[in-house]
Amino acid sequence: MSRDSFVLRPAQLNDIRKLNSLIQVSARGLNQNHYTHAQVDSLIRYVFGVDTELIADQTYYVIEENGKFSACGGWSQRKTLFGSDKCASRKNGYLDPKTDPAKIRAFFVHPDFGRKGLGNRLMIQCEEAVKKAGFCETELMSTLPGLAFYRAHGYVGDQFVDYPLPDGVIVQFVKMGKSFSKN
Ligand SMILES: CC(C)(COP(=O)(O)OP(=O)(O)OC[C@H]1O[C@@H](n2cnc3c(N)ncnc32)[C@H](O)[C@@H]1OP(=O)(O)O)[C@@H](O)C(=O)NCCC(=O)NCCS
Repeated sequence: MSRDSFVLRPAQLNDIRKLNSLIQVSARGLNQNHYTHAQVDSLIRYVFGVDTELIADQTYYVIEENGKFSACGGWSQRKTLFGSDKCASRKNGYLDPKTDPAKIRAFFVHPDFGRKGLGNRLMIQCEEAVKKAGFCETELMSTLPGLAFYRAHGYVGDQFVDYPLPDGVIVQFVKMGKSFSKN
């Protein structure tokens, strides 16, 4: 895989349809060892998907090769910790970089490109932007398949949270965080 052919750029509003389709393919392909089919269906229905506010803020990124989307992910200076536009866990308002952790949001890699470093590229991009915006910490809500990836990036947290979805299906997430040194 030639890294040069994979372009990372901020996602735009007219990417939303392709982003949602990438997120669904990623969820179905890379969640199967951690969640049941019913859980993945419910996650796609109620949680996974684009958060348009991040696109408006230009803090959500896509990696594409010749127009084919292979990965997406971002960060946020807003209070919502996880979930798409349709998710019930949304909060209004902005974070204060002096006191609040920025949020790392919605990393999804196409199953054809798993373990090829695309997630790494997105994380480097996000953490650089987070620090540039003046934040000293980040936090995120990890899916079970995301845990090893975030741990590899220095995120800590091992408390499993049972999250009930509107159809009664319960999924587990793990809240994780990371502090950056101030020097
Ligand atoms: C989690 C995810 C974004 C990782 O993306 P990726 O591009 O495959 O990750 P990378 O190739 O950049 O991996 C970087 C490092 O993370 C760790 N890692 C990533 N995936 C891993 C896995 N499945 N098992 C163990 N370690 C893993 C490894 O240390 C890896 O380095 P290595 O390949 O040199 O050993 C991807 O697996 C995914 O989209 N999962 C499904 C969607 C999801 O649940 N996203 C999380 C939302 S919170």
